[in-house]
Amino acid sequence: MTLTNTITELLAQFTHNNPHGQNRLVYNQAWLRNQQRLLDLGHQLGAQTTVDAVGNIYLDFLGRDQTRTIATGSHMDTVVNGGKYDGLYGILGGLCAIRRLITLKGPPPVTLRLIAFSEEEGSRFNAAFTGSTYLMTHQLPDYLIDATGTSFASARKIAIAQLGHHADQQVAYCTRPTTFTELHIEQGPRLKTAGKKIGLVQGIVAQQRLLITAHGVTNHAGTTPMNQRQDAVKLGSHLITSLYQLAAHHNDLILTVGKIKVVPNVTNAIAGTMQFSVDFRTPSNATMTVFNRQLTALLNKLTDVTIESTLKVPSTCLSKPMLTANIDLAQRLSLPYLQLFSGAGHDSQIISSSIPTAMIFVPSNHGYSHCPQEYTAPEDLVTGIKVLIASLHQQAYL
Ligand code: GLV
Ligand code: MN
Ligand code: MN
Repeated sequence: MTLTNTITELLAQFTHNNPHGQNRLVYNQAWLRNQQRLLDLGHQLGAQTTVDAVGNIYLDFLGRDQTRTIATGSHMDTVVNGGKYDGLYGILGGLCAIRRLITLKGPPPVTLRLIAFSEEEGSRFNAAFTGSTYLMTHQLPDYLIDATGTSFASARKIAIAQLGHHADQQVAYCTRPTTFTELHIEQGPRLKTAGKKIGLVQGIVAQQRLLITAHGVTNHAGTTPMNQRQDAVKLGSHLITSLYQLAAHHNDLILTVGKIKVVPNVTNAIAGTMQFSVDFRTPSNATMTVFNRQLTALLNKLTDVTIESTLKVPSTCLSKPMLTANIDLAQRLSLPYLQLFSGAGHDSQIISSSIPTAMIFVPSNHGYSHCPQEYTAPEDLVTGIKVLIASLHQQAYL
């Protein structure tokens, strides 16, 4: 079977043709089915299959020398109404690469590992990167509660019990790999615009997420005089405008308010609370520090506002030796490539804190991502897999 057929068929098996997109939120049924499917596939392919306590899955194609582990993979979860490629391409493309390598070159001299991280997006609980963070720190955010009142701890334990039936081993935590390479769609327009086939990632932006709540008092929309109301939507929307204005002063920072919840969310009642997410990113840790100072000054002027920080990751440089090696491979394969900084967050950002890490991007049509329109042509998917094959070969076989 060609690589094109293999990756296309695998993606079809692990996704739905749903106009509303993919909804694999961590530990839900769709997520569970895919993690189980991957464990079963790994078992059929002769890998040693492992699930850890957060629900990360590891398929180990054991080497003669098991003291080194060359890993690849990405995350299994999606955003709400997400696309077919974000995360999943890195898992299934990684599996294609490992299989092809073993078919062509024989059993690996050192262990080749495929990792399907449980969660990266932060779409169910107010925390992101919980899978890769667990691998690196063994921390479980069991205290978190989702929108329906279910705790991270209970959702996690139910899911792990199910996954345990499909894995060779269930462990509290897995050993860390020697290196990690993540294959991913670009999720932006730069490769397409530049006419390049491959993106080689130098680093990943700093990212912070806040949950801000504007407090008011719920009352009748028709009888409460305008000068006697405490309207949470009025306060919250004013604050959102101020945040966008503040962000506009920095040409290297972007800010998004993507989620808003109004209570009671009734047409003819003044809102008692308006809660909204703020996501802001920049490649520069210095800009992040300045912006935080300005943000604090703005928020300190306001009463009736509470703030919860849900994510804070610094700007990260990936491994320079691995980047140099991948540039060399792209040149040898005669592939037009671009070195770039990632504006999206990735598990690689967490892993690279102490493990040499690289990322390989392929183009995204129209730059669409985190939406059902996300698309990468099969030939571009295959080009990324070929670079990954070359990189894993260089790392594990030479
Ligand atoms: C994750 O994909 C993010 O960048 O938000
Ligand atoms: Mn992703
Ligand atoms: Mn994503």
